[in-house]
Amino acid sequence: MTEASFTPRVFSGIQPSGGLTLGNYLGAMKRFVDMQDAGAHETVYCMVDLHAITVWQDPADLQKNTRELAAGFIASGIDPEKSILFNQSRVPEHAQLAWVFNCVARMGWMGRMTQWKDKAGKNAEQASLGLFAYPALMAADILIYHATHVPVGEDQKQHLELTRDIAAKFNHDFGVDFFPITEPVIEGAATRVMSLRDGTKKMSKSDPSDLSRINMTDDADAIAKKIRKAKTDPEPLPSELKGLDDRPDARNLVNIYAALAEVSPQAVLDDHAGQQFGTFKPILAELAVEKLAPIGSEMSRLMADQPEIDRILARGAERAREITEPILAKTYDIVGMVR
Ligand code: AMP
Ligand code: TRP
Repeated sequence: MTEASFTPRVFSGIQPSGGLTLGNYLGAMKRFVDMQDAGAHETVYCMVDLHAITVWQDPADLQKNTRELAAGFIASGIDPEKSILFNQSRVPEHAQLAWVFNCVARMGWMGRMTQWKDKAGKNAEQASLGLFAYPALMAADILIYHATHVPVGEDQKQHLELTRDIAAKFNHDFGVDFFPITEPVIEGAATRVMSLRDGTKKMSKSDPSDLSRINMTDDADAIAKKIRKAKTDPEPLPSELKGLDDRPDARNLVNIYAALAEVSPQAVLDDHAGQQFGTFKPILAELAVEKLAPIGSEMSRLMADQPEIDRILARGAERAREITEPILAKTYDIVGMVR
């Protein structure tokens, strides 16, 4: 079977583990919306609550964060009629396929994952078994839809390579061409949005400093203040990108501008070369507020209507299962389960 025989389908997921950042928005969410609107693929987007519990989540917070993430998807432009939008635990085939993949993937593959090494740290004995197996569940998320394309940020690249390895090993072990070899889609100026306090570290919801990130729920004042306080250097903006090579903080602000304005980083320099950050930051702040503040206020509005969010997720899960049930059934047949 060649790739052409699979329906072009996009899948991606975000963990409802609290707080959406500008990194999530530019690295993931905004690109999900672009792919939905381009209309070249079916688009399936998921709040991966089963992934979230690989580290401790307070149950009440998990529920709240899942609904808030759903509101974030919709406020950013995901249309639940055009895309399938749901939470992972509602579609049991994800966990069922993940078990099969736990038996396909090798311990050594998992042990090499940098996210596992970072998150488990020196205390691997105390980490959950789920955290170790996390990439097999992620492969199941993708392959239970026979998804052909997966938009993510740079940090997920290794997990997508592992997804391809799992699909290939399954196909090889059982002598089938059943699972597609999925293409990662990692592109644009903002596949790696960095901390506003340290341009060498990823912007993250878990950073102890709130000034390091822009949260999607920040209001206009907070957004402007964080950009004003962002770490920079005393040099003016150069006219060529290579002038930013050793200036990670400056490079980050240029990339953020480019992604928000939907232009290339070079185009930003063409317009702003020679400016000091004292001049450039207020321009960036104005753009960020214009693009982000309406999303934050739409999120609050949606959050006030919880029954509507719950209806959307229930309907999304029903539509998802129309795809996942037959793929799981066929997988069980291939593996030799009596049904
Ligand atoms: P997470 O919040 O870790 O579940 O990530 C959800 C999505 O956002 C994934 O596609 C990540 O690659 C992306 N993402 C998270 N943080 C960043 C960042 N700082 N820059 C770019 N993409 C990011
Ligand atoms: N592991 C991803 C992250 O932390 C979230 C995720 C889970 C995902 N399943 C996925 C992303 C499937 C893309 C496709 O960001």
